[in-house]
Amino acid sequence: MRFLVAGGCGFIGSNLVKRLLLDGHEVFVVDDLSRGSLEKLDDYVHHKNLKFFKLDATGQEVLEIPAKFDVVVDLVAYKIPRYSSGLKTLFVNSRSAENLLKIATRDSAKFVMASTSDVYGKSTTFPYTEDGDLLIGPSTSRRWAYAVSKIFNEHMTIAYHDEYGTRYVILRFFGTYGPHQYLDWWGGPVGVFLKNIHEGLPLTIHGDGEQKRTFMYIDDLVEGILRAAESPSADNEIINLGTSEEISILDLARLIHKLSYPEKELKLEFVPYESFTQNYEDPKRRLGDFSKMKKILNFDPRFSLEEGLLRFIDWFKKRQR
Ligand SMILES: NC(=O)c1ccc[n+]([C@@H]2O[C@H](COP(=O)([O-])OP(=O)(O)OC[C@H]3O[C@@H](n4cnc5c(N)ncnc54)[C@H](O)[C@@H]3O)[C@@H](O)[C@H]2O)c1
Repeated sequence: MRFLVAGGCGFIGSNLVKRLLLDGHEVFVVDDLSRGSLEKLDDYVHHKNLKFFKLDATGQEVLEIPAKFDVVVDLVAYKIPRYSSGLKTLFVNSRSAENLLKIATRDSAKFVMASTSDVYGKSTTFPYTEDGDLLIGPSTSRRWAYAVSKIFNEHMTIAYHDEYGTRYVILRFFGTYGPHQYLDWWGGPVGVFLKNIHEGLPLTIHGDGEQKRTFMYIDDLVEGILRAAESPSADNEIINLGTSEEISILDLARLIHKLSYPEKELKLEFVPYESFTQNYEDPKRRLGDFSKMKKILNFDPRFSLEEGLLRFIDWFKKRQR
C-alpha cells in the first residue's frame, strides 16, 4: 500500500515509517523538521520506497504532492503549550489535520488520526472507555489547549466521515517511549529521566510524584497503529492504544535508575505545582480500558514496562559510545 505519514520524522512517525518500509509498503513522509529529524529514520532515509517532503502540513503544498494514497496517517503535533504557545498548538494541530483529511477524502484513503489520552482530561471514571465523557479543565489553564485541539480533530474527522464518507480510525495513544524518543520534556518523563540519571543531574518530579501513568513500548504502539490502519474492522472506530500497567512517576524514576545506572546517585527535585505558570493541572491518574484494542485489533502488548525500558536503555547506552 502507499502511505502518507505526516510528522514522519518525529518519535512515533520515524518508528512507524521504518516498520512500514520493512513490511514492503511505499511511504511518503511529510515533515517540516521543526521538531523531528531525518536522523531518526536511520539508514532507511535512503530506502527506495521512501519519499521525503520537507513541508509545513498546515500549508497548501501538501495537497499538491502528485500521488494517490491508500492510507493517510496524521502524526503532526504541537504538544502541551507549556513548550510553545496555545495558538501554535491549536493552529498546527487543527490545520494540518484538515489538510490531511482533504487528501484522504480525495483519494478514498483511510485516515489514521493520532489522538491522545489527554482528551479524557480530568475525568475520574476509570478505566477510560472510548465512549466515556471527556472532562476538560478551564480555558484559563493553557495546558488544555492540546486536548482541545485533539478533541476538535476527532470531531472534524467524524464530520468528514458524515459529510463525505471518509474512512477513519481515531487512535487515543496513552504514554509511549522507546528508541528515538526526545530526551527532554517534549518526549515525556522516560527519556528525560534516563538522560538526567546518565548525566548526574536531578530528576524533576512534578508535585509529590504519586500521579500514576501507563507507558507502552514503541514497537507495541507501532504494531497497534498498523493493525488499525490495515484492518477494516477498525474502520470508523475510536480505539485506546496503551497498556494497563500503572506506575507512579516517582516509582518510574526509581525503576529507570535501577535498570540503567544504579551505581550513580539518584537525585530527585520536587517541583510544586504552584510554581508552574499558566494554572497548570496534572491528572492524578490516567488509566485506559483496552478491551476494544484487544478485540478489534486482536492485539495485546508484547513488552512489559521493565522489558521495554531495558530495550530503550540499551539503545541509549549504545548511542553514548
Ligand atoms: N509520544 C506520545 O507519548 C504521544 C501520546 C499521545 C499522543 N501522541 C500523538 O502522536 C503523534 C506523534 O507524536 P510524537 O511523540 O511522535 O511527536 P513528535 O513531536 O516526535 O512528532 C511530531 C512531528 O511533526 C512534525 N511537525 C510539527 N509541525 C509540523 C508541521 N506544521 N508540518 C509538518 N510537520 C510538522 C515535527 O517536526 C515532528 O517530527 C502526535 O499527534 C501526538 O500528539 C503522542
